[in-house]
Amino acid sequence: MYSIAIDGPSGSGKSTLAKSLSKKLGYLYIDTGAMYRTIGLFAYRNGIDPSDGEEMSKHFDEIDIDIEWKDGAQHMFLCGEDVTDFIRTPEISMYASAVSAIPSVREFLLDKQRDFAKHHNVIMDGRDIGTVILPNADVKIFLRAGHADRAKRRYDELIARGEDVTYEKVLRDMEQRDHNDSTRALAPCVPAADAVILDNTGFEPEETLGKALEIIDGKIGILQEKK
Ligand code: DC
Repeated sequence: MYSIAIDGPSGSGKSTLAKSLSKKLGYLYIDTGAMYRTIGLFAYRNGIDPSDGEEMSKHFDEIDIDIEWKDGAQHMFLCGEDVTDFIRTPEISMYASAVSAIPSVREFLLDKQRDFAKHHNVIMDGRDIGTVILPNADVKIFLRAGHADRAKRRYDELIARGEDVTYEKVLRDMEQRDHNDSTRALAPCVPAADAVILDNTGFEPEETLGKALEIIDGKIGILQEKK
């Protein structure tokens, strides 16, 4: 089994890259951010303070999370309901970032995430895939891009989804989430020591894909020679 870890902050192009790689290589794509978003949605709907770890932990029995793939797209289920369309709003993004700093929430998702890589060739994206979830991943790519590029990508995505947002609000939220996600004590969003940093500022998606394929080819090619 091969595993490819793609980490990086929001708007760095992880999911666009991971989806293209998944098509190209036929590996299963797992978006781990969607899992945190689903837990964030649970907190939001149930009026739970998303930064209250003790309160969140009381509800794990009720949080039944499932993933299904339909036409290649990952769908998230919360207690049997397909919530895929509800987890991408700016509000749920902030809830996801808050719940993801709770150690018991990360623990709750850890085995689920690792299990996928035991049974499939995977491309998994998130913040801690190369450092915590799959420390032995065959390829680790850490994506970076300038603030303005990242906020613009995120803004375009939200507008395309019909959200009523301004670029300034998207930029502010992004900086807040960056701060939360990279300074938290557990599994902060930092590159693994053996990750290849890919800065795609100013790149079109195809250029990022091309660079990533070069990296993957190099790494997996080396591994194949060793085996
Ligand atoms: O990638 P995303 O924007 O959908 O992720 C939503 C939030 O979940 C993000 O603010 C940080 C958190 N997250 C995380 O802590 N670890 C991961 N592996 C993936 C996401």
